[in-house]
Amino acid sequence: MLTQDIDFGKVQEKIYQSPRGAYSIFVKLSDKVGLKLFMDEKDRDDAYDRQFHAAASELGPEVYGKVDGVPVRYEINDFEDFYYSRHWDGTDEDDFEGFELLYEWGYLTELVEVCSYSDDDYSYKLFCDGFRQLKKDIADVIGFDFWDIKADNCGVKNGKLVCIDFGNTY
Ligand SMILES: Nc1ncnc2c1ncn2[C@@H]1O[C@H](COP(=O)(O)OP(=O)(O)OP(=O)(O)O)[C@@H](O)[C@H]1O
Ligand SMILES: [Mg+2]
Repeated sequence: MLTQDIDFGKVQEKIYQSPRGAYSIFVKLSDKVGLKLFMDEKDRDDAYDRQFHAAASELGPEVYGKVDGVPVRYEINDFEDFYYSRHWDGTDEDDFEGFELLYEWGYLTELVEVCSYSDDDYSYKLFCDGFRQLKKDIADVIGFDFWDIKADNCGVKNGKLVCIDFGNTY
């Protein structure tokens, strides 16, 4: 998929139903491709670079190119959501309503199945072992400390556990 094929109107429509973390929003464009959006150029570039290197070693989904100037706005309707986001700028509770975040920096990425925990003790243990190995591989191969390792930051690609969240370094 090329940048010029992205229907930004549709992306904007999907924004509130899409998974959103502290840094990014993941908008599904097809069964195979998603658009990951960030508010800051540097956050986008860092995540893109790490994922690019991880993908080359089958430790992350493929990246399909950066997309700049994405015209997507996310209106904050809940003060807590704003206050606990890393983009809280001191605006207080009386003034925040209708505050818009602009997610203008993106990249196209392969969509993978996102992990969830299983109640079954045995699969949980296997999963934790897999997490440990993935964290080690990511550190060895791309020098990234995947400290925020948890089910919804991991996915499964070709039957193998991969990292899907390449943000979050402090
Ligand atoms: N490649 C992908 N394939 C499928 N779903 C994805 C992919 N990347 C991200 N997601 C979905 O989007 C969510 C948010 O992405 P991600 O974890 O990268 O954002 P974040 O803002 O860094 O999150 P956090 O709150 O952990 O900092 C994920 O939990 C997952 O549900
Ligand atoms: Mg995450």
